Amino acid sequence: MDIQKEKIQEPKPATGKLGVLIPGLGAVSTTFIAGVIAVRKGLASPIGSFTQMGRIRLGKRDEKRNPLIKDLVPLSSLSDLVFGGWDIFDENVYEATITAGVLERELLDKIKDELESIKPMRGVFDKSFVKKLDGDYIKQGANKMELAEQLREDIRNFKQQNDCERLVMIWCGSTEVYTEPMEVHSTIEKFEEGLRNSDPSIAPSMIYAYAALQEGVPYSNGAPHASEDIPALQELAIQKKIPTCGKDLKTGQTLMKSIIAPGLKSRMIGIDGWFSTNILGNRDGEVLDDPGSFKSKEVSKLSVLESILEPEVYPELYKDLYHKVRINYYPPRGDNKEGWDNIDIFGWLDYKMQIKIDFLCRDSILAAPLVLDIALLLDLAQRTGLYGIQEWLSFYFKSPNHHKDVTPINDLFVQKNKLLNTLRFVVGEDLIHNLGLTYYGFDEEK
Ligand SMILES: NC(=O)c1ccc[n+]([C@@H]2O[C@H](COP(=O)([O-])OP(=O)(O)OC[C@H]3O[C@@H](n4cnc5c(N)ncnc54)[C@H](O)[C@@H]3O)[C@@H](O)[C@H]2O)c1
Repeated sequence: MDIQKEKIQEPKPATGKLGVLIPGLGAVSTTFIAGVIAVRKGLASPIGSFTQMGRIRLGKRDEKRNPLIKDLVPLSSLSDLVFGGWDIFDENVYEATITAGVLERELLDKIKDELESIKPMRGVFDKSFVKKLDGDYIKQGANKMELAEQLREDIRNFKQQNDCERLVMIWCGSTEVYTEPMEVHSTIEKFEEGLRNSDPSIAPSMIYAYAALQEGVPYSNGAPHASEDIPALQELAIQKKIPTCGKDLKTGQTLMKSIIAPGLKSRMIGIDGWFSTNILGNRDGEVLDDPGSFKSKEVSKLSVLESILEPEVYPELYKDLYHKVRINYYPPRGDNKEGWDNIDIFGWLDYKMQIKIDFLCRDSILAAPLVLDIALLLDLAQRTGLYGIQEWLSFYFKSPNHHKDVTPINDLFVQKNKLLNTLRFVVGEDLIHNLGLTYYGFDEEK
């Protein structure tokens, strides 16, 4: 394994404005933007955001040092965030928030002016990647490279017009169809040639990612399809020293899986089957009704259990596990998803048991604080000199990007430790290993 041994820097201060650029101003992103504005005005609190509400233990337990994360590491304050984005429908963020139907009108009307002032830029769109949508607010160009150039110009203009010191980009657009890695995705030269030839295997989300990286902007993918995680764009991220992370925000049913599966495994409880089904009726659900887009989601959702349970290490417990995930588009529910899980487990002497979960969740309410955290932490990564895949941000993703020589970490608690230890490391605090022998009179050095 080729190990990078660069020293990280002390994070530069988070001065000035941070622009958060979002391809896709739909349910997740508008709930995020409206939420941040509401919190800034004191109308709500940032529940669900680890960067805003989370604390971090430092040193030994008897030191009782538990600062807020945002007080330990220099993060942009919510008042320094500026929002922009692209969509394929020409609705301002107030209108898009109403279309999404997630937040109450009463709250939205208190922040109407700010929301109305955020208007989308024309999107880069290709219907062969999102079959269920027909937007008409899209960029035209002779080839995909020209579209990338237009996005780059949008990025530069946004930065200048909004007086931003730094930017981050987070894809919150629709799920694109599943694509196998192809030759054109393999190196940056081939990718750029593909852009000039408008290669049909280059998805719009890859064009946004390319534009972001070329402009020195950290990029994250909140959806399950391939975007910045192809070898060509990873090569570009390393060349340009830009941090990236993805993919597919871990909310709802997969969040439950990554909470429950590690617990069962810790107790050496076997699992025969895990059947998950959902109903949801928002635009995301409609897009996922297309088999190509669903395939991206399915691959992302299925990978979680296997990497947590490690059937190759524990064959008696997990080798025959039958894992099925279904998503059903059901308009009456809107954004209020219902996810059912049936888990067939077995214990001591092979005795069978079952667990049933019925999670009545709100997709975008769970996703919005993750977008906030990712924006702030990706920006921190850049100010710390970290670049390429930010595996310590796996905490936020269903299908976390990882170095090709290591398996991904999907266990939420391991992900959280990795996140916390990375923050401690960044500010020069001791990492926490939970040995705890010193309290009982033993030396922790061998
Ligand atoms: N809500 C969650 O809990 C959750 C969790 C994980 C992942 N996601 C993913 O996040 C994404 C957004 O979810 P959502 O519920 O906000 O969906 P949404 O349909 O409400 O919003 C997506 C927006 O993207 C726009 N869009 C599509 N293609 C575009 C392009 N090429 N350029 C610019 N805009 C484009 C659409 O017009 C739409 O406004 C989806 O891919 C979804 O799968 C959501």
